[in-house]
Amino acid sequence: MKMLNIALPKGRLGEKVYAMFEKCGYECPEIKENGRKLIFENEEVGVRYFWVKPSDVSIYVERGAADIGVAGKDILLEYAPDVYEFLDMNIGKCRMAVAGKKGFFDDRRKTLKVATKFVEIAKAHYASKCREIDIIKLNGSIEIAPILGLSDVIVDIVETGTTLKENDLEVVETIVPISARLIANKSSYKFKTEEITRLSAALSEIIPD
Ligand code: PRP
Repeated sequence: MKMLNIALPKGRLGEKVYAMFEKCGYECPEIKENGRKLIFENEEVGVRYFWVKPSDVSIYVERGAADIGVAGKDILLEYAPDVYEFLDMNIGKCRMAVAGKKGFFDDRRKTLKVATKFVEIAKAHYASKCREIDIIKLNGSIEIAPILGLSDVIVDIVETGTTLKENDLEVVETIVPISARLIANKSSYKFKTEEITRLSAALSEIIPD
């Protein structure tokens, strides 16, 4: 049996993901000890897990440092990594949306100022509508931008809608629904087809509705 290297997104989503792997028999009990360790191995079941920043999962997988991993569709759309995407895990569900101040009206005579972490997603969205925009790349707290007049709208992730609500913003339009996906490195898939297929099949049995 070949060992599978698995990149997990650190944080709440990663814990849900690990719970699913565990349920399928790919357990690694040591991972639950709350230390600062980042790599965990269980030779018996043939897995080595490592915690990485959620937005870095696809980098590890694309470059083969990890054979497989779980990444949000937002990251896959934004960075378009050269990986296989083969399972919608149906967790980490949210949507990519345009939001603005309540009552926002798009005056098409002016260039629209768009603040976002997701530059490529925003560009593609507005290009498809032939809408001229000025992108302002931010790294967090995007919701502040329209309030302070830095931008007209934001393109960001909306999960419960609480962040928008508490900042007097509202969804203008939904761009795309998002969920976590199982991805694999292309050459790992060739050399570890059996291991990856078996894991993927087991996961597909327990995907929540
Ligand atoms: C995301 C997103 C919003 C928030 C939306 O941020 O950027 O700020 O979640 O969730 P809600 O609709 O449930 O309020 P995240 O917490 O992932 O961190 P970030 O600021 O690093 O983007």
